[in-house]
Amino acid sequence: MNAPIVLELPPDLKQERLPKHVAVIMDGNGRWAKRQGLPRIMGHKRGVDALKDLLRCCRDWGVQALTAYAFSTENWGRPLEEVEFLMTLFERVLRKELREMMQEDVQIRFVGNLNALPRSLQAEISRSMADTQNNRGIKFTVATNYGGRQEILAATKAIALQVQQGLVQPDQIDEALFESHLYTAGICDPDLLIRTSGEMRISNFLLWQLAYAEIYITETLWPDFDRSEFHRALCSYQERERRFGKV
Ligand code: IPE
Ligand code: IPE
Ligand code: MG
Repeated sequence: MNAPIVLELPPDLKQERLPKHVAVIMDGNGRWAKRQGLPRIMGHKRGVDALKDLLRCCRDWGVQALTAYAFSTENWGRPLEEVEFLMTLFERVLRKELREMMQEDVQIRFVGNLNALPRSLQAEISRSMADTQNNRGIKFTVATNYGGRQEILAATKAIALQVQQGLVQPDQIDEALFESHLYTAGICDPDLLIRTSGEMRISNFLLWQLAYAEIYITETLWPDFDRSEFHRALCSYQERERRFGKV
């Protein structure tokens, strides 16, 4: 395993107080574009650059896992041109970035109802997950056609089936068993959730996994979220006292 490169960690951040896993709701692409007098899709294009920078920054500073919300189950309700643009964008970016992710030892994983995505995108997703599965650097998870409620329902159905088949007894259903049926099985819960563009909501993201995450909301629109913004979020996180219900 490659040692994490943490040389660039700003001096006011303490390595031992960094979140292990950061989750981001990348919001505000459309508003960013509108402010620049551009079509919404240009905001999504710029949003990809912001995500690439954040992934590198996490790696440079020693954050072990990053999960990004790219497309929700509710986002299908957007105009068809926008949805199609996003699907094509995801596919193009994946194809283009795979080589660099390999060089940088990134392990990429997609979570969500992937079967409902365009076939050609599913093919890129499978390839990127297979190619990077043995990489030991940052764990990068992309939530695509993801909904927290749908994930919980899918897990519930899978467990119900096992009970029906007599493989599991109802009193064996505990948190560990339940988690093993979530899309995120094997990934630790996020310590820090960042949402951009000032919205104070979770929008169906990681409903189970965020139970004890610290939440950081910034007015900054996603395409403008850069290292200095991330630095501010981490400083805020470091000052939090995480009590997990205790005193
Ligand atoms: C987030 O930006 C990206 C996706 C949901 C795909 P938005 O597209 O939601 O941007 P706003 O919220 O309309 O500004
Ligand atoms: C959440 O943003 C989904 C993603 C960032 C992919 P939305 O823009 O879809 O959320 P709402 O509609 O403001 O809650
Ligand atoms: Mg939005």
